[in-house]
This record gives sequence, structure tokens and C-alpha cells, in this order.
Amino acid sequence: MSLPKSAPVALPLRRLASLPPLSLYIHLPWCLRKCPYCDFNSHEVRGDVPWERYVDALVADLESVLPLVWGRRVYTLFIGGGTPSLFPAESIDRLLGAVRARLPLDASAEVTLEANPGTFELEKFRAFRDAGITRLSVGVQSFDTAALKALGRVHDADEARAAVEGALALFERVNVDLMYALPGQSPEQALADVSTALGLGARHVSAYQLTLEPNTVFHRYPPVLPDEDGAELIEQAVHGRLAEAGLERYEVSAFAAAGHRARHNLNYWTFGDYIGIGAGAHAKLSLPDRIFRQVRHRQPQRFIDTAIAGDAVSEQHDVESSQMGFEFMLNALRLVEGVPVALFAERTGLPINAIGPALDAAEARGLLQRDHLAMRPTALGLRYLNDLVSLFLPDSE
Ligand SMILES: C[S@@+](CC[C@H](N)C(=O)[O-])C[C@H]1O[C@@H](n2cnc3c(N)ncnc32)[C@H](O)[C@@H]1O
Ligand code: SF4
Repeated sequence: MSLPKSAPVALPLRRLASLPPLSLYIHLPWCLRKCPYCDFNSHEVRGDVPWERYVDALVADLESVLPLVWGRRVYTLFIGGGTPSLFPAESIDRLLGAVRARLPLDASAEVTLEANPGTFELEKFRAFRDAGITRLSVGVQSFDTAALKALGRVHDADEARAAVEGALALFERVNVDLMYALPGQSPEQALADVSTALGLGARHVSAYQLTLEPNTVFHRYPPVLPDEDGAELIEQAVHGRLAEAGLERYEVSAFAAAGHRARHNLNYWTFGDYIGIGAGAHAKLSLPDRIFRQVRHRQPQRFIDTAIAGDAVSEQHDVESSQMGFEFMLNALRLVEGVPVALFAERTGLPINAIGPALDAAEARGLLQRDHLAMRPTALGLRYLNDLVSLFLPDSE
């Protein structure tokens, strides 16, 4: 059965019948060294880092947002970066204590910390676990020392292995970040990285194709990367090996064994709500009658000063109803299994026919499949995700 199809109309937001699940993202913006391919808001450590002052600023920032989320429970927390594992374990402990004192953190909340193998020390990571971290995301990228050098990473292959082994010994849930289509990489070399991760026991892998992002050293001085066909071959090999090992591709770049999917990221992809605190952090929050986004000041010292003064938000705007379909689908279509049709109305406050013409167009091009229960990208849609998602831009209707 296909969905009712109607012409696009400017639809008023209805009141949300219920508010979506709430997550908390905390950004820690320092790294040992800036990687040449990285466009994240991350800054090389120079001199003393104001760890404690930064935690004070995060707590002040969290307090400023509390009136917007009063009474709501937090189901997942993600400490990302940057390199959060650079922070002293005592600071992470104080931070998590301060969060728990101010927000009801669900008893079974997933609490993830991003870690760089160049910062791995067993005792420190044990202390992270004791502080309440339940899941570690390790930025391995490759287990090949030459490839790691070419990527400007601070760690070598032995340190990458040691970090994953240590993480798996301490934490039940671990993600391993890998990048593929690296400078001069063959499919065999990419497969060796995946096999090493699997051999060590990884049950969640995020596999990203290396991209040259504007405002990075690699963009200015591009390394020689595999061409499009070469990258495609590598990608197929990587995906195939992960599938053989029982790690299901559930999102464009995320692969997991049963029970190991990242709940925090799933909340983003299902258009859930999230508070975002820390330098440059983004938030998306719903009130019964509107949905809005916030961004914090990006530069760490400016963030600290503004957060302590009670106003770290540099930008805030409502998500217009004309933009809602695009924003929802931008997330939902990353999921291989797609989402229930009913979720659209539940999360956006709009009827599904608000995106009826775009759904029709996507279906006609073989990029999307739907029935009365679910909508999901086809294999072609996943491959040409930008084309698929752009059909939901307001001016493309
Ligand atoms: C914010 S980083 C966090 C991990 C940690 N900072 C590290 O690098 O060890 C998240 C992940 O994004 C991926 N990534 C970053 N820049 C990328 C790029 N230009 N192309 C592809 N993947 C990238 C890397 O796999 C990285 O681990
Ligand atoms: S360690 Fe991670 S966040 Fe830091 S510069 Fe490298 S890729 Fe970026």
C-alpha cells in the first residue's frame, strides 16, 4: 500500500503529542596534535590546558539549559572531541557527578567517551570506567604504522592494538573508528585493518572513507588517494568483511553485532532531542509547539568566558516547518532499515503528506522504498545519499 500523495502545502506545526528521548553531548576540544585531515573543532594542546576551568564552564553551560529540559530524563550521554581521553580522569569524574546532580540520568544510560590510542593508559581508562563511562569509542583509523604516519596520527600500530585490547578488557561496549581509502591504500591493506579490529574482538566498527575537508592541511596539500573506482572496491571489501563477521551495517558508516548499536547516535538519526554543551556544541530541542537549534561559541577560551557568564549560546533558531522534512530525512535516511512512517509526525509535528511529493520522487528514482509502516533508503539510495536527501530540500519540491 502506498502513502496518500498530495501537493506540497505550507503546513502549520501541530503540537507534539510527546517529546522525543533526550541525549546529552559534551564537547572537549583539545588534542595532542591536530591531524591534517580533521575539520572538527579541535585544538592542539599548547602549554597548560585549563581542565578544571573548562569543567566549570560546562557545568555553568548545563545549568543555563536546564529550564529548557525541565523534568526530562537523559538516556544517552556522549563525551566527544577533540580527544576527551586527554582530560584527567578526575575531571571526567567531577563532570559526570555534576551532570548527575543536575539532570536525571537514566540508570541504564549509555555513557560514551571518545579516546585516542595516543592517550591510552590502563589505569586512567579504569578510572574513566569507575567515573561512570560505560562505552569507549577508540579513534584507531588504521593498524598500519606507515598509514598512521601518513595520516599524521600521534600513535603507531602497537599503540592502536594496545588501546583496543585495553578498551575491550575494561568495557563491554567499544567502538573502533577506522578510515579507509587512505593515501596509496590497496583493498588488502584496508581489509587487514578490519580483520585486526575483528580479531581483537570489536563488536562495533565505524568505517569512514577518508574525505578531504575544506580548511584542513590535506585540502591544501592533498595526498594521492585511491580514485573513485579504487575507493569503491575498498569500500565493498570492507563492508563485506564486516558482514561476514556478523557486524551488520545499520547506518551509512556504522556496523554492529546484535546488541551493540550506538544508542546515542541512533537518537540523532531518529530525530531525537539533544542538549549540546561545550565549545561549538550543537543542540536540538523540542518544546510542545516548536523545535529549535542552538550552537555554542566555538573558540575554547571564548566558550569558557561566555559559559561562566551564563550565555555560551552564539546562535539559536527555530526549525521552520518548511525545513523540517529535510532535517528529519537527512538523519533518518542514514539508517539502513529506515524509520517507521509514524515517526515523522511524532518527531516533527507535521503530517507525512508534508513530504509526500519528495517521497514520490525518491521512490520513482529507485532511491527509497516505503509501505504503510516504514520508509527506508534502497541500496541505490544509500550509495547516492546526498542526491536522495536533497529531494527533501524545501525548494526542490
Ligand atoms: C571526532 S573524531 C573522534 C576521535 C578522536 N578524536 C581521534 O581522532 O582519535 C571521529 C572520527 O571521525 C573520523 N574522521 C575525522 N575526520 C575525517 C575525514 N576527513 N574523513 C573521514 N573520516 C574522518 C575518524 O575516524 C575519527 O575517529
Ligand atoms: S585526534 Fe581526532 S579530533 Fe583530534 S585532530 Fe585528530 S581526528 Fe581531529
